Amino acid sequence: MKRQLSVNLNNLLLSLSEVIDLANPLTAQHQHRTAFIALAVAQRANLEPEMIENIFTAALLHDIGAVTVEEKLSIHSFAESNYDRHTIKGELLLEQIPWLKKISKTVRNHHRNYIYYY
Ligand SMILES: [Fe+2]
Repeated sequence: MKRQLSVNLNNLLLSLSEVIDLANPLTAQHQHRTAFIALAVAQRANLEPEMIENIFTAALLHDIGAVTVEEKLSIHSFAESNYDRHTIKGELLLEQIPWLKKISKTVRNHHRNYIYYY
């Protein structure tokens, strides 16, 4: 008999975000903090619930393309001169996941001026 696994996607995203930032104490909870700030701003702006959810999700995973500890420290210390490397990797990764594809353009452009991509 085949078993089915039921997973709360919000809890999965929160855990994934936290694990990504555990690579170094200097990056711990960076994406969580960013996401809750983005959530507060989006709610204050009275955006549509779906937009708020997408902004929160994108913020939770915005640096997912920074894979190595060196990449994470570089972008967090503002020593990085080319932010495209981690934003492009993040976009490519998220495009492969159907339920996260909708946030890939926001992740790709999170170091640029605001444009809403949904
Ligand atoms: Fe970034």
